[in-house]
Amino acid sequence: MSDNGIDNVIESGLEQREGNAIRDAFWLDDDIAYLNHGSYGAVPRRVSTAADAWRMRMERQPVLFFQETLPGALRDAAAALAPFLGIAADDMVFVENATSGANAVLRSLRLGPGDTIVGTDHGYGAVRNAARHVAAAAGAALVEAKLPFPGTTPDAVVRAIDAAIDGRTRLVVVDHVTSPTALVLPVAEIAALCRRRGVPLLVDGAHAPGMLDLDIAAVGADWYVGNPHKWLFAARGCAVLWASPDARGDLHPTVVSHGYGGGYLAEFDWTGTRDCSPYLAVDAALDFYRSLGPARLRARNIALAAEGARIVASAWGTEVLTPPGMAGSMALVTLPFDVDATREAARAVRTRIWHEHRVEVPVMAFGGRCHVRVSAQIYNEPADYRRLARIFAR
Ligand SMILES: Cc1ncc(COP(=O)(O)O)c(C=O)c1O
Repeated sequence: MSDNGIDNVIESGLEQREGNAIRDAFWLDDDIAYLNHGSYGAVPRRVSTAADAWRMRMERQPVLFFQETLPGALRDAAAALAPFLGIAADDMVFVENATSGANAVLRSLRLGPGDTIVGTDHGYGAVRNAARHVAAAAGAALVEAKLPFPGTTPDAVVRAIDAAIDGRTRLVVVDHVTSPTALVLPVAEIAALCRRRGVPLLVDGAHAPGMLDLDIAAVGADWYVGNPHKWLFAARGCAVLWASPDARGDLHPTVVSHGYGGGYLAEFDWTGTRDCSPYLAVDAALDFYRSLGPARLRARNIALAAEGARIVASAWGTEVLTPPGMAGSMALVTLPFDVDATREAARAVRTRIWHEHRVEVPVMAFGGRCHVRVSAQIYNEPADYRRLARIFAR
């Protein structure tokens, strides 16, 4: 962190605790090393309390809540969140999770036989499945660009996607931060490519809100989905689907309900009776995030993920596979022993690490090897990575 950054923190009286010292702001068990913020986030106590308060309010008079309070409260929550993401509130809707937002876009496509959806081999499994499903139903296909890995560079990513697009391509879908490999992809450059090639782009930014300095509108995509319930500390079940004004005509939620035909906001804001408290409590998540100093927090987490990965890789005699120029607050380190590069084998290693050592870290099978993907969030400190490093130290 720059000296200037520290001055700003002191002057504005921001929360300065971190590592073990801030663990009491979360519900996490005391004795564990939690190195997987990436999968499901970890909700601060004050954010769950705010969501609980909304739930209680709903129960005091459900009809009043759903018919009179909720519509305005939902839009107020969008208005609080949107500027944080570089977008206008009327251009975003809440969805339960990134998978659901990506499904809405994919299932709204009008594909024909022979058409293609272009993705990458680093895409998130659930979204790949959704793309395969809509493609199969139309006689179309998912084509996956193979990104060079390891040794990935932003230019090579753009070139690989360019090579996969042809006259049959109806959509490109890429992750902003890849799940199996923790790479931050050059989404603005990919968007520029897609515009040149005349193909719409869906960015799956599940990890980006809170991890990166995010300006969704500036990316230049057609649709963008993100999960405030990961790195922005929102209560679980809080995701965002942004659609550019030109990309809404045919866009519908996966659940079509009363709002059908009423336009983007009407269709997505009501998809049936549901618990919207994770959306409504988003201001509590934003307050918590702000209290940590957003720029300082992001820089700290990115630096700690890199440092943590170095600690682990040097103890194991293996490599950090996340190149510094494409890294966020997660990093991939190869395991120091041979194990089948299958999902089942990877799961078995994760289970062993957790049950024998109380260290939670995801194990990813990718590129013929298994790797751990370490995360860094405000409650982590170097000791957490040393604890993981010791398990297989050489
Ligand atoms: C790139 C990517 N997309 C989508 C998801 C799914 O998020 P959710 O379970 O909130 O739908 C994840 C989860 O880690 C992810 O990494």
